[in-house]
Amino acid sequence: MTKRIVILPGDGIGPEIIMQAVMVLHEIGDKFDHGFIIDEQMIGEVALETENCSLPDKTIEKCKQADAVLLGAVGGDPNINRWADHPTGDRPEKGLLKIRKELNLFSNLRPAILYPELSQACPLKESIVGDSMDIMIVRELTSGIYFGKKSRFTDEENDEYSYATDEMFYSKQEIRRILKTGFEIAMKRNKNVVVVDKANVLETSKLWREITTEVAKDFPNIKYSHMYVDNAAMQLVVNPKQFDVIITTNMFGDILSDEASMITGSIGMLPSASLGETKLGLYEPSHGSAPDIAGEDIANPIATILSVAMMCRYSFDMEKEAQAIETAVKNVLAEGYRTKDIFTEGCKLVGTTEMGEAICERIINNE
Ligand code: IPM
Ligand code: MG
Repeated sequence: MTKRIVILPGDGIGPEIIMQAVMVLHEIGDKFDHGFIIDEQMIGEVALETENCSLPDKTIEKCKQADAVLLGAVGGDPNINRWADHPTGDRPEKGLLKIRKELNLFSNLRPAILYPELSQACPLKESIVGDSMDIMIVRELTSGIYFGKKSRFTDEENDEYSYATDEMFYSKQEIRRILKTGFEIAMKRNKNVVVVDKANVLETSKLWREITTEVAKDFPNIKYSHMYVDNAAMQLVVNPKQFDVIITTNMFGDILSDEASMITGSIGMLPSASLGETKLGLYEPSHGSAPDIAGEDIANPIATILSVAMMCRYSFDMEKEAQAIETAVKNVLAEGYRTKDIFTEGCKLVGTTEMGEAICERIINNE
């Protein structure tokens, strides 16, 4: 089968982790006889530097024509706002938000899986997490406070009364489609859904609850409940094993997925898939661009490599191929290979490239 994949390496550690993921794609292509045609385009800071735009039109066009998009990371150092004076207010992260919107990728799947091999790297006590955990966070990705109206008002008389606003917007249709995605995913898992909101305060959350009750009627086999986001943040560290599928809004999902990821030992382990109504999906690690370690060959490429597995599964219907990647990752972890972020005593410390090569080798040699 031939598939066209646009790669968007982006900023910071993006290019080095994407390079390892592309090697994995080539190995999968060779082993299973697929032609993966790879086309590199620009996004983020690197695009702002060369094209003066965080998401050039050409990138959008190429992504729309592709079968899948693989993204590294976007953004520069969070303490230096290099783009504060950009005439249109553009900044690297806007490119990422815009490509999600342009491709209508409203559901973001962020699995948080603790591999038994990494239980040593998990910051929680063994009595809490045991030696494994498997949560799927389903985050709404193209609406909510991220995309609501933003405004600035300047009070000429008293500047202390100047203000800024961010509107949290959700239509019934937007809520319904992400809930449906989440419930459908739960049907293939342990059939347990927790919808996370702040319904004791927010009107949008109340609407989420109403629509949840409606959607749940079509899924009588699913056990579902609601949970406030502050409690969910606490439950994730007190009793993470109670969760199977968490469905939530754009911003709550952004925050909770970072928290859940650390239970897995490192945010460097977490892949993600952003999907819409069609097969075209965007796949990216859940972590950021980590500019502080860029170019040092120490970043963990596993989140990006596992994102390729998700690409095979969700955009290409290539389940065998997805499993070949996941098995290879498990194998190298079992053999003790660790990048710095997941390193514990007695393991074999490797860099980005060596980790990628070890995974490729297992893909070639595994049955
Ligand atoms: C993520 C990131 C992005 C987000 C940023 C870079 C805009 O944190 O993908 O989780 O908030 O969605
Ligand atoms: Mg985030």
